[in-house]
Amino acid sequence: MLEFKNKVVLITGGGTGIGEAMAYQYAMKGTNVILTGRRLEPLQKVMQKCISLGVKAWCKTVDMEKTETIDQLVEWIHSEGHQIDFLLLNAGISQRALTLDTDISVDRRLMEVNYFGGIYLVKSLKDMFLNNGVHIAVVSSVSGVFGFPVRSAYCASKHAIHGFYETIALEYPQIKTTIIIPGRIHTEVSKNALDGNGKATGVMDPGQANGYDVNKCARVAIKAIARGRHQKVIGGFDTIMVPFYKYIPCLFRFLARHVSAR
Ligand SMILES: NC(=O)c1ccc[n+]([C@@H]2O[C@H](COP(=O)([O-])OP(=O)(O)OC[C@H]3O[C@@H](n4cnc5c(N)ncnc54)[C@H](OP(=O)(O)O)[C@@H]3O)[C@@H](O)[C@H]2O)c1
Repeated sequence: MLEFKNKVVLITGGGTGIGEAMAYQYAMKGTNVILTGRRLEPLQKVMQKCISLGVKAWCKTVDMEKTETIDQLVEWIHSEGHQIDFLLLNAGISQRALTLDTDISVDRRLMEVNYFGGIYLVKSLKDMFLNNGVHIAVVSSVSGVFGFPVRSAYCASKHAIHGFYETIALEYPQIKTTIIIPGRIHTEVSKNALDGNGKATGVMDPGQANGYDVNKCARVAIKAIARGRHQKVIGGFDTIMVPFYKYIPCLFRFLARHVSAR
C-alpha cells in the first residue's frame, strides 16, 4: 500500500466534480493538496475544505489549453520547493455532437485539454519525477476504452491517454500510473460538454443525473491508487459495456447504437 501522509498531490480540475471529491479523499489520508483549474472561486472553496480536514492546501488558476499558465504553475511549484508525490490528471471536457457535425476546432480543443495539457505538465516536471518518483492517476473514461456516439473527439482524447500513460509506466520504474475509467458519474460534465460549435450544452443529461455517486467514485479511485492498480473501471451498471466490448463485441455494438447516448 502506498504512503499518503504528509505527501503532496497536484490535482488538475480540482474545483468541481470528480477532482473535488478526490481532493477530499487525498486530504482524509493526510496528503497536502494543490488544486488547479480555470476558475478560482470553486478552487478556493475546495482548498478551505481540505484545510479543515487537517492538511495544507493551495490553489492556482491554470488553463490546460494554455501552456504559459502550466509554465507559471511549474515555476511556482519550484519556487515554493514543493515535491509532487501524486499527480491527478483529472481536468477534462466532454462532447455532445455527431462526429461530422463537430467543427475541427472542437476536436483540437478536446485534445488540448484532455490530453496535451496533461502530458505537457508531466514533461515539465520530468526532473522531479525521475529523481524522486511519482504516482500519476489519470482520469480517462469508458469512452477511452471504446467509441461511443456523440463523443468522437472525447473518445479520441481519452484513448490517447491510455497509450501515453501505459507506455510511460513501462519505460520508467519510478513512474507509476493508475488509469481511472469511470462510467457515468453524477457531476456537471454533460452541462460543460461542448456541442459541435464549441459551446457548452448546459444540459444535465438524464444519464448523468442518474449516474454513480461522485463521492463513491472517489472512494473507489483512491483505493485503486493506494493498491497501485494499473487501471480501475468505476461506476454503475453502465460499466458492463466494458466487458461486453472485450468479450461480446457484437452485443456491445448493438447496445452502443441503441442505448441513449445522453
Ligand atoms: N462525470 C462523468 O460521468 C465522467 C465519466 C468519465 C470520465 N469523466 C472525466 O472526469 C474528469 C472530471 O470531470 P467531472 O465529471 O468531474 O466534470 P466537471 O465537474 O465538469 O469537471 C471538469 C473539471 O475540469 C476543469 N477544466 C475544464 N477545462 C479546463 C481547462 N481548459 N483547464 C483547466 N481545467 C479545466 C474544470 O474546472 P474549470 O472549469 O474551473 O477549469 C472542472 O473542474 C474529466 O476528465 C471527465 O472527462 C467524467
